[in-house]
Amino acid sequence: MNDNQSNNSNANAKKDIEQNKKAKDSSSIILEDEKDIVLDHNYDGIKELDNPLPKWWVNMFYLTAIFAVVYTGYYHFSSGHLIEDSFQKSMIVEIKEDSDSSTAMASVGFSEEHASIDEGASLYTSRCAACHGQKAEGIIGPNLTDSYWLNGDGTNDSIYNVIKVGIPEKGMISWEKLLNPSQISSLVLYIQSIKGTAPANGKSPQGTLFE
Ligand code: HEC
Repeated sequence: MNDNQSNNSNANAKKDIEQNKKAKDSSSIILEDEKDIVLDHNYDGIKELDNPLPKWWVNMFYLTAIFAVVYTGYYHFSSGHLIEDSFQKSMIVEIKEDSDSSTAMASVGFSEEHASIDEGASLYTSRCAACHGQKAEGIIGPNLTDSYWLNGDGTNDSIYNVIKVGIPEKGMISWEKLLNPSQISSLVLYIQSIKGTAPANGKSPQGTLFE
């Protein structure tokens, strides 16, 4: 071996080491090293290598494991609320709010609290005008602008009750299932507001006069 040759082979060896290092860094296996990682079984000549998994994949796996521990600790053994708990809680609040308002309304019957004349007027036009007339002058149903009443005595509670239970045998249906208490109350307010308006073609008074 002359000097030149030994220099050359030295350089080659260095190159090899360098390459090896690079290969290790990127955690891929260079071909000559495959024998170290080949698995000990043989499928018709096909060999399986035990390649290391990519770093990012392994790290993700560790992260999920850590997440699971933190999650379980917080939600199952500490102050966190499981989804089902939160759902139950919000349902209970919802049901409570619902029953609060409906029992309050049902127990008083007529209530001005959520009622409005405007709502009553538009409900009247869409639901009642066909029988009682656009101006409540009376058609099939009686005139609702006078002070004569066939049913009840014309007070808020009385009118509320007539609308609620109806007089089915006389053609006035019960509106209890079609309108909610505040809508019925709105209708009462509207009917009271048109009292004495004496519309044209008004049906003559029926029933008893209540002043
Ligand atoms: C299908 C026709 C019809 C509809 C629709 C109708 N009513 Fe009547 N209503 C009648 C009839 C008929 C009577 C009279 C019952 C009787 O002879 O006792 C009546 C009676 C009434 C009375 C009592 C009047 C009295 O002198 O005792 C009120 C109040 C009343 N209706 C309000 C309403 C309201 C409010 C609506 C709409 C939500 C409505 N009605 C929808 C037919 C109707």
